Amino acid sequence: MAEELKIPTHIAFIMDGNGRWAKRRLMPRKYGHKMGVEALKRVVAACDELGVKEVSFYALSTENWSRPQDEIDALLAMIKKFADEEMQDYVNKNYRIRFMGELHRLPKETMSALEKVESAAKGNTGIVVNIGLNYGGRDEIVRAAGKLAAAGKEINIENMNSAIDTAGMHDPDIIVRCAGEKRLSNFMLWQSAYSEFVFIDDFWPDFDKDTVIGIIREFSGRERRFGGLK
Ligand code: IPE
Ligand code: IPE
Ligand code: MG
Repeated sequence: MAEELKIPTHIAFIMDGNGRWAKRRLMPRKYGHKMGVEALKRVVAACDELGVKEVSFYALSTENWSRPQDEIDALLAMIKKFADEEMQDYVNKNYRIRFMGELHRLPKETMSALEKVESAAKGNTGIVVNIGLNYGGRDEIVRAAGKLAAAGKEINIENMNSAIDTAGMHDPDIIVRCAGEKRLSNFMLWQSAYSEFVFIDDFWPDFDKDTVIGIIREFSGRERRFGGLK
């Protein structure tokens, strides 16, 4: 009998291990990031094919600015290239495109490339591809509460859900952390209240469709209770 896979609505990925993946190959860290972009493309395509409705990726954290400037520059260049090239293809594929994080700290040309694809994708109805850039969960919660306070609105759960960067999206059913690490590193602190955590030892650049199927298989065996009884 074929096994029943429960397809989650939203999977969020903490992409990690690019640097270690490259180091093992005696290559510079930025080569790991480049191959990480290829993995992201494979994972988006696999999730779309499998019927996942929303995918999120942690690409740059509010803490990653403490890395050496040449690595930051390489990451920013890759983000711009991804927006200019790959994301145009996503627009044509009817994907919805979103970003989360404090984007204003990114270079102007990066921001305008992101805004361009985000607005070109307006009206699209397919899978939501949400990318975290200069994203931190604490920063997001503080910004959301600040927005509510400035608008004179009550700070309650419902209003916070509408003020966070993922407003209108579902909370992630699954949060994936790879490269053997078992922490959130400031990712989706608000949204992860009832997410299922899946830990994968592989480095991010090795992710492919089979990795995604394995994650969904593990999720399918989980019992979610949301505080109630089964
Ligand atoms: C994840 O890979 C990508 C980003 C954080 C931008 P890392 O760059 O953290 O790779 P490791 O963890 O050092 O191997
Ligand atoms: C988390 O990875 C951030 C992103 C994937 C963008 P890090 O490599 O920055 O996390 P730590 O430092 O190992 O916790
Ligand atoms: Mg890392």
